[in-house]
Amino acid sequence: MQDKQRPIIVLDFGAQYSKLIARRVRDARVFSLILPYNVTAAEIRAHDPAGVILSGGPASVLAPGAPKPDPGVFTLGVPVLGICYGCQLIADMLGGAVEASGRREYGVAHLEHFDGRGFFAGVAEYTQVWMSHGDAVAALPPGFETTGATENCAHAALADETRCIYGVQFHPEVAHTPQGGRILANFVHNICGCPGDWTMGSFVESATAAIQEQVGDGRVLLALSGGVDSSVAAVLLHRALGQRLTCVFVNNGLLREGEPELVREVFRDHFQIDLRYVDAEDRFLNRLAGVSDPEEKRKAIGNLFIEVFDEEAEALGQVDFLAQGTLYPDVIESVSATGGPSVTIKSHHNVGGLPERMNLKLLEPLRELFKDEVRALGAELGLPDAIVWRHPFPGPGLAVRCVGEVTKPRLATLRAADAIFIEEIRNAGLYRDIWQALVCLLPVRSVGVQGDERTYEEVCSLRAVTSEDAMTADWFRFPPEVLQRVSNRICNEVKHINRVLYDVTSKPPGTIEWE
Ligand code: XMP
Repeated sequence: MQDKQRPIIVLDFGAQYSKLIARRVRDARVFSLILPYNVTAAEIRAHDPAGVILSGGPASVLAPGAPKPDPGVFTLGVPVLGICYGCQLIADMLGGAVEASGRREYGVAHLEHFDGRGFFAGVAEYTQVWMSHGDAVAALPPGFETTGATENCAHAALADETRCIYGVQFHPEVAHTPQGGRILANFVHNICGCPGDWTMGSFVESATAAIQEQVGDGRVLLALSGGVDSSVAAVLLHRALGQRLTCVFVNNGLLREGEPELVREVFRDHFQIDLRYVDAEDRFLNRLAGVSDPEEKRKAIGNLFIEVFDEEAEALGQVDFLAQGTLYPDVIESVSATGGPSVTIKSHHNVGGLPERMNLKLLEPLRELFKDEVRALGAELGLPDAIVWRHPFPGPGLAVRCVGEVTKPRLATLRAADAIFIEEIRNAGLYRDIWQALVCLLPVRSVGVQGDERTYEEVCSLRAVTSEDAMTADWFRFPPEVLQRVSNRICNEVKHINRVLYDVTSKPPGTIEWE
């Protein structure tokens, strides 16, 4: 699926910012790939890179067993840039020296650089940078010179221009280094010689050709959820394969208001994709009857989805590939700084295990893209904003927002409240400022008074969060009048709710969904 252009390889030393480095390189319209730090030089060469970036990381090069790259990375014949820990690796491995600096440096510093031509071209001589390090370069390796310094860091930037090896102690990839994007663009354009013409348009062309080559005369099946990733995958695959793509959309009765209609309208009517619409509402609700434990709900829904999907696939006859909207962050082999397995917080519902079960080959046309690139691709392919900018929605749908038992009437109540919340967020022009907004129906009733009548009805909780990647999240600060409008409308328009709460829990400790 890779563009024919030569990529920039980011070697990941466990940095929290490795993905950001790869993103910034792509912002400069150059394709980038993240690889674990311990790949061999031969494996790197196999990608035919235009340059290599060594990321930062939590380790110290002075510690025994510190992660180090294959030394062959410095003799690949392509430029190398080391960032923070990567810069210290350059000093350490090429004959300089690194020391635990007496003054640890975290936060904003000011860099004075001495190179206005290549690496720092167009960057003000005195510029803000972001530092986060304990060790520092104490002596330059032979052939290097210092190209920038801060008050606390004598070798904040270094270079051996003959060998095209560069190091920076600061982090050019973060927003607190305002000229950082410029510096990385200089590296990939001026030093690595990348043309900077990797665009979504060029991705569509190369991805289409790659899909056609991989699939040959085969048939492809895709589970379409209506979320951004599977939607973009559907349209891209349809562009490449036409009627050899079949999408299956399962209405599990746990969807938001208008969702089944939107999916049919966009994919079947507009794009003319072969879309099988399966109404499995009763089957899902029967399976969920009496279940209120969150994990039991998730497992019941996941298992039944596989059953239903299997039946549909069976009915189609010969299928060769199962397509999935897997994204790049899911496939990057992450390097754990601490080691050890992570605990399961929730068993996520997706189609991960399906290809093996169904004896199908896997097709992942988005596996090289970040989320915002998928949105850009969706727009390029002509998907409507309503799908491209949709908030994420969990596989088990409204079931994990219907706290307690999931019944048809409770789902209808929840669906109506959710639609009002989203509509008011849109009306206030806040939809894109929010990562995800949702309503939970709580298994609690409260006393209220409406039109002089006593009521004893259900309670709902509104949740809206900001986030970069759903790993952490903060609650969204609404103007009070928006919350007031939502609360009034829900209590007036939704029959069985008489009390509305706003959830002010960040993640951690809360998760985004309630279950
Ligand atoms: P939590 O609740 O764990 O959610 O903070 C993080 C993000 O993942 C979404 N989510 C899911 N997505 N299948 C999915 O595809 C699932 O089973 C699932 N559960 C949660 C959630 O909406 C949020 O965006």
